[in-house]
Amino acid sequence: MKNTMSTARQLLVAALSVCIIPASYAAAKISYHGVVPGGNPAQVKSIVTQTCAACHGAHGNSLMPQYPNLAGQNQGYLMKQLLDFNNGSRTNQTMQAMVKIIPSKHFARDVKDIAYYFSQQKFNPDINANAKAPKATLKVLKLGEQIYRSGIPSAKVPACMACHEADGMGNGPMAIPRLAGQHSKYVITQLEQFRHGKRSNDPHKMMRMIAGRLNTKEITAVAFYVQALRPKLVLGNNPQNYVQAIKQRKSTPLIGVSEKEIKKPGDQKGKNKNPSKSSGSSNL
Ligand code: HEC
Ligand code: HEC
Repeated sequence: MKNTMSTARQLLVAALSVCIIPASYAAAKISYHGVVPGGNPAQVKSIVTQTCAACHGAHGNSLMPQYPNLAGQNQGYLMKQLLDFNNGSRTNQTMQAMVKIIPSKHFARDVKDIAYYFSQQKFNPDINANAKAPKATLKVLKLGEQIYRSGIPSAKVPACMACHEADGMGNGPMAIPRLAGQHSKYVITQLEQFRHGKRSNDPHKMMRMIAGRLNTKEITAVAFYVQALRPKLVLGNNPQNYVQAIKQRKSTPLIGVSEKEIKKPGDQKGKNKNPSKSSGSSNL
């Protein structure tokens, strides 16, 4: 199983670098891309607590599964989403109205600070709705794991982990979102939107192409899998290892990955792809 997965991963990463992310990507002046992490959360405290907290929680752990967790999400990805809602390339009535609340005077700076604030918050599965999430059966989780880690070769669906990483933490410098622990309900909504072209802010149609090849059952399974995925929880790759975890928990079980697949803090993977170096674009 491990060999199959690493081969699938190698193929995917190769495909990714050759055709999905062409050189023009690096040349494009996308300021959130390769953002140097940082910011001054104190400057945006009032907007976070008075506005965003209502739905996403003051620390980005949302209590309602239709609102995404923002805690521990990658800063560059969060910035991209806020900019996309602002310029209309990602459409959602609620969020498009929310970004208008961010004062225009220091818009770029505030977006960076808000994104930094949420990226630094501790993801807390115990206070968010994951604890109450519907139970997924082992069969569903196994299908989800298979899709996440190996893709569906017959349908040309790549392994999600080729981009979102084995531990589900995504890739900060490349603005690829963390999926680990995200609410399954939200993940399903997004995948269905990509599938039907209703969310179209993904560079090079990456996610539209992928979700377009998934059916509802597969989307549900992979959504439950990522919701249960915990980067720091090590259970090993054998699904049997989490049978016990399923038995012990009343709700959706937690799934870990092997120790060597957990990204070390400060792992600068993707750093050499930092377009800010080659294009000279600012980091806002
Ligand atoms: C009234 C509820 C509500 C409030 C208040 C709200 N949001 Fe949201 N937010 C949502 C919903 C719903 C979505 C999912 C939108 C979709 O389906 O595309 C979302 C999505 C997002 C996303 C995208 C997350 C991802 O994983 O792609 C970001 C970033 C975000 N919100 C930031 C904020 C910020 C910053 C504020 C405060 C200025 C805020 N939100 C206030 C409801 C809200
Ligand atoms: C080629 C790289 C790549 C692969 C493979 C990939 N993704 Fe993505 N995914 C992305 C990128 C990039 C985004 C961010 C799009 C944007 O900028 O809004 C994304 C966004 C998402 C989102 C939205 C997250 C949010 O917070 O709104 C979900 C859900 C998602 N991917 C699930 C999956 C699943 C499930 C798979 C496997 C079936 C997968 N992805 C495979 C690159 C990839």
